Amino acid sequence: MKAILSLEDVIRQAVSGDAYRDIHPDVIRRVCETENRKGFKGRELVKAIRGRLHQIGGAYLPSSLDPELFRDSLSGLPRDLSDPILQAYCRKKMEIHASTRERLPHIERFFHEVLEGLPPVRSVLDLACGLTPLSLPWMSLHPKAVYTAVDMYRQMTECLQVFFEHTGFYGQALAADILTFPINRQYDVIFLLKTLPCLEQQGKGCASTLVDRLPSTTIILSYPLRTLGGSRKGLGATYEADFIRLAHDRFTEIKRYEFPNELVFRVKKP
Ligand SMILES: C[S@@+](CC[C@H](N)C(=O)[O-])C[C@H]1O[C@@H](n2cnc3c(N)ncnc32)[C@H](O)[C@@H]1O
Repeated sequence: MKAILSLEDVIRQAVSGDAYRDIHPDVIRRVCETENRKGFKGRELVKAIRGRLHQIGGAYLPSSLDPELFRDSLSGLPRDLSDPILQAYCRKKMEIHASTRERLPHIERFFHEVLEGLPPVRSVLDLACGLTPLSLPWMSLHPKAVYTAVDMYRQMTECLQVFFEHTGFYGQALAADILTFPINRQYDVIFLLKTLPCLEQQGKGCASTLVDRLPSTTIILSYPLRTLGGSRKGLGATYEADFIRLAHDRFTEIKRYEFPNELVFRVKKP
């Protein structure tokens, strides 16, 4: 006779592999509940949960990052963000995450263009940040800016915190589910870089629900122009249409930028 698994058993089984242990429990529980509502049962449900967690995170970050190793590798390196040795270190580390890796060839131009013309940026909220905070050397924020970075990977955010502490930059990296993370203060700029498609994979309407929760501010949001496998598959047209639907009645002062792998919009949420 087959044992009937409770949702708690399923959650335990689904996250028993190394690849899932580091993900914030709020994300795991929500993904489990969403997949459960689709009618999957037992092993099929475990498979569906793991597949979804891989699609939204594991596919970008193939191995977990160790904060102690990160600390060791930084010790002895310059602390100044403009130092080429520290910049070379940041570039090397950003290769680990598929999303920052594909931005590296044009990282200087990317941040220069998308931030150009804004008043001095004193606070940033980076939602589903990946390793983007390691791009700080190229961001030209106000020297006393505060940077809040949020992602579902606990060890990765601890590594980012180690980086902030090493450079003396006033930053805070937190592990959380960005769909429920409380956003209760103002930020000069909010980054949603390649985040919205990832949220839609977690449930239809999740992207717009998050955007509607954001305070009025400048938002820099982007979409990938290639799949992780390298195919373009008409992604540009699909995401441009997604953006137009999202922007309707929500955004003003829309600016569009196109980079080799990324379509970016800088918008004002009134
Ligand atoms: C496509 S990557 C983008 C990373 C980064 N913003 C960039 O542009 O390089 C998506 C990121 O979203 C994170 N993520 C996905 N769903 C999340 C959630 N619900 N809460 C927090 N982080 C999430 C993943 O861990 C991954 O780092």
